Formats: sequence, structure tokens, C-alpha cells
Amino acid sequence: HPSEAKPSLTVLLAGPRGFCAGVDRAIRIVEEALRLHGAPVYVRHEIVHNRYVVESLERQGAVFVEELDEIPDDGRPVVFSAHGVPKSVPAEAARRRLFYLDATCPLVGKVHREAERHFAAGRHILLIGHAGHPEVIGTMGQLPPGAVTLVEDAAQARRLRAPEGRPLAYITQTTLSVDDTAEIVAALRTRFPSIAGPAKEDICYATTNRQAAVKAIAPRCDLLVVVGAPNSSNSLRLREVAERAGCPRAILVQRGAELDPAVAEGCATVGVTAGASAPEALVEEVLARLRTRFDLCVEEVVVREERVAFKLPAALTEADPAAP
Ligand code: F3S
Repeated sequence: HPSEAKPSLTVLLAGPRGFCAGVDRAIRIVEEALRLHGAPVYVRHEIVHNRYVVESLERQGAVFVEELDEIPDDGRPVVFSAHGVPKSVPAEAARRRLFYLDATCPLVGKVHREAERHFAAGRHILLIGHAGHPEVIGTMGQLPPGAVTLVEDAAQARRLRAPEGRPLAYITQTTLSVDDTAEIVAALRTRFPSIAGPAKEDICYATTNRQAAVKAIAPRCDLLVVVGAPNSSNSLRLREVAERAGCPRAILVQRGAELDPAVAEGCATVGVTAGASAPEALVEEVLARLRTRFDLCVEEVVVREERVAFKLPAALTEADPAAP
């Protein structure tokens, strides 16, 4: 007896979605360190904000810690996460003669150097970003305390008290909402017309493209599923972008098992995207989960092609002629 046909559901897959070049590089650094040096390889902070990635590296022999003082002085490598670290961290690693590998995304490193350049030019720096995020802690920690003021939203930008008689500059976190940041920058420029800023914005290509892809599909979706972690800044922004772009509901799930396919009941079209730290296997899980209840018609909507890739640190490639 044939079972009743499942209801049909159109899935729009946002492109680009998922891994960016900085996340890909950070994971490869840990894997290469394990391949060259064996286990354990210590990693300071979640290498990228994704449990699935962290657990799969743990199975290969990575040991995650929050601070260097949790690492014994036994000569094992330690990797700093993609979000970047305050200057005090490599300084402490050098003092203890630890063998460290820096997986800071080169696009975060670029913002660190901008901060140093503004500081050297005598400017007080406004950092647009989210308090407590490791990237913000890392960027502020490039300079002495007091050199950088954090600005979290447009309201703060409007009432901010900048140090008197000092030229100003702004920099930003790489994973912000493109639209919110434009509003904050506009508010800063209104108040401080001569404020210096980046030639090209600090929000990275991957953040920009993932948000653009969600904007393109959101108006056609009854529900949008973002695959990503609740501590992943760029994933949280994707959910906001979807709702603001006209999708009635956007939800964040870490993996397939977290998605109750009943949430798509009554929907004609569901959008799916993934934050920059979420592997494609988790998107596949979400689709598999939806297939338990619906007959899917999957359409990928690609707004931009990406061809960015970053090299591994010389400490990994020079040591090993077989390295990729
Ligand atoms: Fe780098 Fe942007 Fe990814 S800053 S780690 S390329 S989200």
C-alpha cells in the first residue's frame, strides 16, 4: 500500500554560505600541526565558533583551552583561534617559549594593523563591534588600554564622548551587519566629519556575501534556517538580515538534529544558509531532516562567486615539503 505522498517544499539554498577562507585556513592549521607534530596540539579558544568542528578536531587530538596557563610547558604546539588574540597572548607564549601557530584570519590581522597605524598617527580609535566577542577583545588588545573605545550601536555613536583635541579614526569587527554598520558610521561621520576610516570597509568579503545572499532569497521565503552556533557573530547577523529583508521567521540551528521539521509545516518555501564557521555537512543534515517530512525541491541561488584562499603559516609549510 503506497504511503501518502509527502507535502512538497521548495528549499532555496543561499550562495555563498558556510565556510570562509579564514575558517578553512584555521582548521587546516590545526590539522597540519597534528599531522606534522602528532597529538596533542593545544588550541586557545574554539578555533572557530562551531561545536561540530571543535569535536571533530578533538577526535584527531586537539585539546581546547581558554587561556595559555592551562597548557603545560611540554613543547607541544599551541594554535591561536581565527578570531585573533590580544598582543599579550603571543607575548606570553614567547616568554614561556611555547611553539605557537597563529590562526588569526588575515582579514582580522589587517584590522589589527590598521589600528596600530591610527595609533601611531596619534588618533583615538573607535572600534565598532560587539562587547565580549573574542575578535573585539583581540583587536582592542593590539593597543594599550584606553587607546580604543568600543561603539556597539548608532545610539552609542550619537552620545559618545571622544577625548578632546585628538583626531579620531574608526575600525570595525569583520562579522558585523553591513546595514547596521553603515548607520553607525553615518552617525559617527555626522558628529565627527573629519574621522578617518578604512579605505575599504573592515567587514570581510565573506560576511558581506553571506548577508547579500540571504537578502536575495529572504523575500521569497516563509522561513529561513541559519545553520550556525549561538556564539557565532556572523550567523546571528544572518538571522537578523533575513527577518529585516522580509522573511517572516528566521531560526538558528546548530545541526540537523536540532531542527524540528514541523516548523516548516504550512510553508511553501524555506531558505537555508550557514554561517562562516559551519561546515556544509551540517547543511546536508538540515536538508535530510526536512526530507523526513517533505518532498524537497532544492534550488541554489548564488549571488556571488568566491575564490578567496589563504596560505598556511610558513612554520607549517617550510617544515614540510609535502604540505599543501
Ligand atoms: Fe576571516 Fe571573514 Fe572568515 S574575517 S575568518 S574571512 S568571516
